[in-house]
Amino acid sequence: MAKKQPPQTKCTELVRTLILQKNDQKEKKNKKRQILVTSALPYANGPIHLGHLVEYIQADIWVRYHKFIENEIYYFCADDTHGTPIMIAARNQGITPDEMVQKTHVEHYRDLSGFDVDFDNYYTTNSQENKELSELIYGELVKKGHIARRPVRQLYCEKDQLFLPDRFVKGICPECGAEDQYGDSCEVCSATYNPSELKNPSCSICGSSPIFRESDHLFFKLSDFHSFLSKWLSDPGRVNPGVRKKMEEWLNSDLRDWDISRDGPYFGFEIPGEKNKYFYVWLDAPIGYIASAMNYFNKTGNKKLFDQFWKTEDSEVHHFIGKDIIYFHTLFWPAQLSGGGFRTPTSVRVHGFLTLNGEKMSKSRGTLIRAETYLNHLDPSCLRFFYASSLSGSLDDIDLSVTEFMTRYNSHIVGNIVNIFSRLCSGISAKLDRTLSESLSEEGKALRKTLLDSVESVLIAYEDLNYAKAVREITSLGDSINKFLTDREPWNAVKHDPEAARQILTDCLASGRILAGLLKPILPVIASGVEELLNLPEPLLRKNLEWIFPPSHKIREYRHLAARVEEKAVSAMLDEEKERIKSAAKKDEEKDENKNKKHGKKMSETSVDGIITIEDLVRVDLCIGKILEAGYIDGADKLLRIVLDAGEGKPRQIFAGIRIAYKPEDLVGMLVVSVVNLAPRKMKFGISEGMLLAAGEGENLTLITPHRNAKPGDRLK
Ligand code: 2FM
Ligand code: ZN
Repeated sequence: MAKKQPPQTKCTELVRTLILQKNDQKEKKNKKRQILVTSALPYANGPIHLGHLVEYIQADIWVRYHKFIENEIYYFCADDTHGTPIMIAARNQGITPDEMVQKTHVEHYRDLSGFDVDFDNYYTTNSQENKELSELIYGELVKKGHIARRPVRQLYCEKDQLFLPDRFVKGICPECGAEDQYGDSCEVCSATYNPSELKNPSCSICGSSPIFRESDHLFFKLSDFHSFLSKWLSDPGRVNPGVRKKMEEWLNSDLRDWDISRDGPYFGFEIPGEKNKYFYVWLDAPIGYIASAMNYFNKTGNKKLFDQFWKTEDSEVHHFIGKDIIYFHTLFWPAQLSGGGFRTPTSVRVHGFLTLNGEKMSKSRGTLIRAETYLNHLDPSCLRFFYASSLSGSLDDIDLSVTEFMTRYNSHIVGNIVNIFSRLCSGISAKLDRTLSESLSEEGKALRKTLLDSVESVLIAYEDLNYAKAVREITSLGDSINKFLTDREPWNAVKHDPEAARQILTDCLASGRILAGLLKPILPVIASGVEELLNLPEPLLRKNLEWIFPPSHKIREYRHLAARVEEKAVSAMLDEEKERIKSAAKKDEEKDENKNKKHGKKMSETSVDGIITIEDLVRVDLCIGKILEAGYIDGADKLLRIVLDAGEGKPRQIFAGIRIAYKPEDLVGMLVVSVVNLAPRKMKFGISEGMLLAAGEGENLTLITPHRNAKPGDRLK
C-alpha cells in the first residue's frame, strides 16, 4: 500500500499565499498612494469670497501635504456654469451666458491662484467632455431603468417667460405662515416643501404672480440605490461622524426620486432624445469633477491614469465640500456614479461655514469679503495660516475674528517662526560671511532630534485634516528654537566670539529648516523663501528632512519672508468692500432711474416741504380699471380682494381696505381709478398689485369712479 503523502503541495501553496500576501502588504505600504482631490465647483455667476476659500485652502493644504510625502496626487476643480441663476445674471449684465462664464472663469482662477491654491486643472462644466460624460452617465441610468418620467406642475413667470427655480419663488411658508420665504425651504421654521406648496407665490425677478404650468420631467430613482448606499456608507472613513449620522437618518427614511430635468429656456446641456429639456445643473456639476480630470489626463497624454482613477478602486478619490451640499455628494453622487458605471468616492470631507466676527457674512452689509478685495490689502499667507489654525476636520463653523486673525499670524508666524530666520540671517549671518559651521553641537543635535521626533505626529495631523493640531505642534517647536536662540544670544556672541555665534546660527538653522518643511503645506511661499535663504540643494520634502548641512555650507542673503498684519490694512480691506457695495447699490439705483426715464417718467430734482414737481406727479401711473371679481378674505376684516382689469391683458389682484363701505357683489363691473405702477406688495394673503383711489372715512368711504365713457387702461391726465 502506498504511503500516504503529506499534503505537501497544499502546505506549500498556503505558505506561498501567505508570503505573497505579506509581500503585497509590504508593497502596498511602500507604494505611493494615487490620490485625486476635488473641491466644490464655484458657481460662475459670482466672485470668490473668503467663505469659499476655507475649502480651497483646506484641500490645497492636504494636497501639498501629500506632495510633501511624495504621494501621487492631483487636485481638480472647475467652474459650475449651468442653471437659471447664471442665465439671469448674464441677462442682467447684457451679455450671453457663455460670455459670462468665460469672464468669470478668468476671475475665479486669478483669485484662487492669488491664495496659492494650486490646481492641476481648473476647468469648466460647460465643456465637451462634461457634455459627453453627462450623456454617458444619463444613458446608462436610462438603460438600467433608473429614470422615470412624470408630469410636474411648476411655477412659470409669464413676464420673464421661464419656469421659476425654487430660489426664484417667494411666498408664505405653508407650515408656519412666515412671509417672504423661498420656494424650497423656510428660513424661519426650516420646513422643506415644493414651490407648489408655497402660499401666494411671486416671481422674485419681477414680482409678478407666476402661474402653474405642467410638463413632463425626468426623475432619477434614488431609492433603487438604497442598499448600495448603505453599503457604501458602511465602509470606514467615507465621511466625518456628524455626516454619517445625518446620512443614516436619510437612509432610514424614504429616498425621494430626484428631478433631474428642466424645461427650456435653460442654460445647460440638452437631454438626448428629449425636446427642449435640459439636465438640471446639479446633475452635470459633479460630473464636472470627472470632466476636469479627463481634460487634464488627455492633455498630458495619460488616458490610462484617467481610467485608473475613475474606473477602478485602486486609487483614491476625495471630495472636499461644505456642509450645505452633503445630500448631493453622499447620496445622489455615489448613486449616479454607481449607476453610470464609474467608481465611487473614497471619502467626502465636509467642513463648516465661515462667520465674520461672530456673524453670518452678508453681501448687503459688505461683510462678504471678496478674495480680490482681500488681496488688494493683505498677504494671502495670513488667511491660509488663520484657516489652518482653525480647521480640525470637523463640521464646526469657523469664525474669522479680525483680532484673532491679526494676532495669530503676528505672534505665531512673524514673531515666532519667521523671527528665527530674520534674527539670525539678516545681521548675524552677514557678519559671519553667511557660512555655517563644520557640524552641529551636541545641544544643536538634541534640538534637531526634538524636531525630528515630532515629524510623524505633525504629518498624522495633516492626514487627519487636523491642521489646528499641526499648527500647535509646529509653533511649539518654533518656541523651542526661539528659546535656544534667546538663551544663547548670538547677537552678543558675534561681537566677541564669532565661532560660537556661527555654531548657534548653524544649530538653529538646522532645526529651523525642519520647521519650515513642516509648515510647507500651509505656507508654501514662506517655506520656499527658507529653501532659497538656506541655499538648499533640493526643495523640502519628508524624505530629506533628516538631511544635514554639509560642512561650511554657505547660505544666501536674507530677503524678507513675512510682514506683520497691520490693523490699518484690515480696516482698509473692510472699508473697500463696504464702499464697493455702496457704489454697486448706487449704480443699480441709477440703472432703475434710467429705465424710468426711458419710459418717460422723470425723477424730480428737489422735493422740499412736501411740494412736488409736475415730474413727480407724472411718475404716478393712474389709470381706469374695471372690477372683474371682488370677494372677502379669510382672516381680514378690513380688506376685500379685487381682481381688476386695467387694460393690460392680464388682470391684477389688489387688496383694498374698503370692506367697511362696500359689499363684494356691489363692486363687480364698476369702473374705478387705480395706481398701476406701485411696487407689488407682499401681504399675508398674497401680492397686492396696485391701489384703488378712494376718499372719505369709515362707512362714507367712496371709490373714485369716472364720470363717463372711460375704459380700462385709460390714463389719467
Ligand atoms: O453649492 C455650490 O456652490 C455648487 N456650485 C457646488 C457644486 S459642487 C459639484 F457638485 F459640482
Ligand atoms: Zn417674473
